[in-house]
Amino acid sequence: ASVHYYDFVLRETNITRNCTSWRLLLVNDSFPGPTIEVHKGDLVFVNVHNQGDYGVTIHWHGVKQPRNPWSDGPEYITQCPIPPGTNFMYEVNFTTEEGTLWWHAHSEWTRATVHGAIVILPKEGTTHPFPKPDGEEIIMLGSWYSEGDDLNDDLAESLDEGTAMPESIGYMINGEFGDFVACSQDSTYHMYVEYGKTYLLRIINAVVGAELFFAIADHNLTVVGMDAAYTRPLVSPYLTTSPGSTLDVIFTANQTPGRYYMATRRYTSQDTDVTDFNHVIATAILEYSGNYSLDTSPKFPNRSLPGYYDYSAADTFTFKLRGLASKEHPSDVPLNITRRMFITLSMNEILCPHHDCTVAPTTVGSSLNNQSWDDPSTDVLQAYYKNISGVYTADFPDFPPFVYNWTGVDNPDAWGVANKVTRVKILEYNESVEVVFQDTGIMQGAQRHPMHMHGYAFYVVGHGLGNFDNETDPLEYNLLDPPLVNTFSVPRDGWIAIRFVANNPGVWFWHCHIDKHMSWGMDTVFIVKDGGTEETSMRGPPSYMPPCEDSYDITRK
Ligand code: C2O
Ligand code: CU
Repeated sequence: ASVHYYDFVLRETNITRNCTSWRLLLVNDSFPGPTIEVHKGDLVFVNVHNQGDYGVTIHWHGVKQPRNPWSDGPEYITQCPIPPGTNFMYEVNFTTEEGTLWWHAHSEWTRATVHGAIVILPKEGTTHPFPKPDGEEIIMLGSWYSEGDDLNDDLAESLDEGTAMPESIGYMINGEFGDFVACSQDSTYHMYVEYGKTYLLRIINAVVGAELFFAIADHNLTVVGMDAAYTRPLVSPYLTTSPGSTLDVIFTANQTPGRYYMATRRYTSQDTDVTDFNHVIATAILEYSGNYSLDTSPKFPNRSLPGYYDYSAADTFTFKLRGLASKEHPSDVPLNITRRMFITLSMNEILCPHHDCTVAPTTVGSSLNNQSWDDPSTDVLQAYYKNISGVYTADFPDFPPFVYNWTGVDNPDAWGVANKVTRVKILEYNESVEVVFQDTGIMQGAQRHPMHMHGYAFYVVGHGLGNFDNETDPLEYNLLDPPLVNTFSVPRDGWIAIRFVANNPGVWFWHCHIDKHMSWGMDTVFIVKDGGTEETSMRGPPSYMPPCEDSYDITRK
């Protein structure tokens, strides 16, 4: 195992896209930001120099950071923002992950432009559980906002006054809209391939607010990994990917040499969101070497790329995912559960969102078990470690007090209204936990929610549409080869059941990875207690953590 050092310099940088100049916070002046490449078992130090205008933090999405939440990154959960003009050193410890992950800012919606790939190669001397590809490429899917540098201002205003949240004006593949957008033709991303060769795509959904479909015209895709764990090979003409998720995908360049579109399309329940075709689609070009006419336009995946509100295509893909569960990469799903939780996901009206009903008596929001998360001003981790009272309470409910027809019309109306709270769930060390996440139709808000857990990967042992049935659904669980992930979408008007062993002591954020929902409060924190020995206890803080007194937070100005 080796140790790597990176310097991330964050500053507002001028970049041009679609014939318009923008001033945006970038890392090392690049968009997407720099790639971290390691082998499994390596240790990385990233010195983050904040030369931007506001406080910011960075999160290593999907890296478990064993016993070390101090370097996990979500603001007000494990640290306060790094003030402008200062730096903070993150320690990123790669222990069990293998494949593709990513890093991103975890302050407001700064991650729109502050993100990059993490490539974790097998330990030296070991190989992938699939034939070595002839080449590989990172495919970073991103979103773009007309607000540019003012994105977080607009977000803050929306949260304050209940005005509409910012909407992205387009999607991107490796930082480019593609040639469907008039002014982006020359900068369209190209991937070059040779006939007969096989390629690994490391696909990262870094968009702020949407799930996406992805396809390459005439080429089948084989999923071999998700969230830095191997999957049973899944052949599919298209992919569904949630914000936060990564997919490792193999394809063979076995079609008539020519040019083919790679395309990604947003999907949504609300077709009113969609103003025009270009707004929901991004393209890149897969280009074969050889002699053929470049005049004919590339083929588009008309047949394979699902339509923008094709929920069943989204479910069909995600329901097929399985873990590899091989001898070298066995499944480790817990069989004897010691704690069960049932957590509803819903849209709400939020009462007195800023604890002052005269400013706005209610705004729109969202919640888990009707608790709408409120960021404290001292981070939860510090409060837990130093026993500071008044920052959070440990009363996040395990179960809603009653069982309703969550997905029907008679769901609990009383739950249309939620309060802002900072309620966390405390777990004992080594508990075997099962959580059922149930989407609800409260406030007509049914939609897919990619739930992401920090500090852990979890097994998705069950999923279904409609209400979770506690009698029959557990009998259908996949305890043989469930996928092991850090983010997984709860289907619209449906549920998923997940399992993990609480063996990583610390303070860990859990939230929907659609930032609108996260900012509206679809979040909570799990604190996993120490196990009693040094190896089962949380580490102490590094000698320096950014201060909480004056955090330069744009939404707290
Ligand atoms: Cu990818 Cu809490 O985030
Ligand atoms: Cu959500």
